[in-house]
Amino acid sequence: MTKYFALAAFAAIFVSGLSACGGGSETRYQTGGSSAERQFDWNLPAHIPLPIVPSENPVNEAMFELGRHLFYEQRLSGNGSQSCESCHHQNMAFAESLERSIGSTGELHPRNAQSLVNVAFNTTYTWANPALVTLEQQILVPLFGEFPVEQGLNEDNKNAVLAELDADPIYQQLVGELDSGGDNDVLNFNIIVKALATFVRGINSFSSDTDRYENGEANVISNAALKGRELFFSEDLECFHCHGGYNFTDATADSSQLFVDTPFHNTGLYNLDDQGAYPEISQGIIEITGKASDMGRFKAPSLRNVALTAPYMHDGSIATLEEVIRTYAAGGRNISNGPNTGDGRANPFRDGFVSGFDISEDDIQNLIAFLESLTDFELINNPRFANPWEN
Ligand code: HEC
Ligand code: HEC
Repeated sequence: MTKYFALAAFAAIFVSGLSACGGGSETRYQTGGSSAERQFDWNLPAHIPLPIVPSENPVNEAMFELGRHLFYEQRLSGNGSQSCESCHHQNMAFAESLERSIGSTGELHPRNAQSLVNVAFNTTYTWANPALVTLEQQILVPLFGEFPVEQGLNEDNKNAVLAELDADPIYQQLVGELDSGGDNDVLNFNIIVKALATFVRGINSFSSDTDRYENGEANVISNAALKGRELFFSEDLECFHCHGGYNFTDATADSSQLFVDTPFHNTGLYNLDDQGAYPEISQGIIEITGKASDMGRFKAPSLRNVALTAPYMHDGSIATLEEVIRTYAAGGRNISNGPNTGDGRANPFRDGFVSGFDISEDDIQNLIAFLESLTDFELINNPRFANPWEN
């Protein structure tokens, strides 16, 4: 657990004013106060409520634009080799195709890189951390984290990195455009984190074929996808209990909610010791809470754009959607050889909604067609989210 204390210390140093640990609903508020906030382009349809934004970091276009440049900025790493985009590609809904990410110094990350689409609506951040409740807190992890090293910033190199960026006329101009009341005239890590959070918070999109179908457009999704949709929302398959709502995950929060729940589930992927153990490399929120029954509990990812984000699960251990569906149909994963041998179907902490079901080969294809209808092609082609250094 020491790794999280290390990050809390970074938070205190660099992001004074942003709460470093814990947080909670009292630090969040509904955006829309100032005129700059009202003019912010959330890229949201009218029926989606605004996300919750921390009062310390109100959104505006100038911050978003600075954040976009920093998101695609390789100089923002210890050895100049890695940006956020290195692991979060727009054409993959801001996920990547590796099972597990590789940091700037070559370290293998314990987990798979997540999609960043609509993460403004997340209740918590990363696969399994109930304490990370704002993007501002989360972003310190890839920048300064040591377990594993991602972008590799630290006490020794951070001033040189900052000086290099601050000397670039593009950043001088972007920072000059911030409407910040005087104290934000030079680039610093407080601004960098706020700007990155604003950019990521703005990566919203709800323009899949299923959205169009739900908004009343006929003939936009195939009959196969419609059948798959029925299965998805059925009490037989149970998918919607954990992947329901407008963002296709139960871990969703927005400004219309008074109470923010933070759900995590064990889906029976492992059972190393017949007592429910997951591989030591990544065991879910038990790593934070220390509670035995939290073994293997992870956040249900949004299934928007899931056809673009293979491989799947927190450790990228399932290659295809078909295999994911077969695993749920079996009520978990039985691994019969190798270091992770064990019957996840018998995991004592497995969620009751992952109990297995019968499904025909046709219906597996129908369910895949439905999951594919959640792909948002406007998002992956939207110049608003694209690399600003390339044109
Ligand atoms: C080395 C690859 C890598 C880099 C670089 C990286 N990320 Fe990530 N990102 C990941 C991985 C892996 C996860 C899952 C982390 C976990 O569960 O511990 C993740 C998770 C996230 C999440 C949480 C998403 C969710 O649904 O909870 C956000 C937000 C995020 N990254 C934003 C960023 C930003 C912004 C940057 C640049 C400052 C960045 N990432 C740099 C690999 C990377
Ligand atoms: C009890 C809650 C729950 C139910 C029910 C459930 N899921 Fe999940 N789902 C999760 C969690 C949690 C994860 C991540 C698990 C992990 O990585 O250990 C996940 C992961 C996934 C993924 C991988 C996504 C990614 O980005 O890696 C897919 C696809 C998926 N579920 C589809 C489904 C489908 C289809 C159904 C119905 C057959 C279903 N889920 C039922 C909770 C649930």
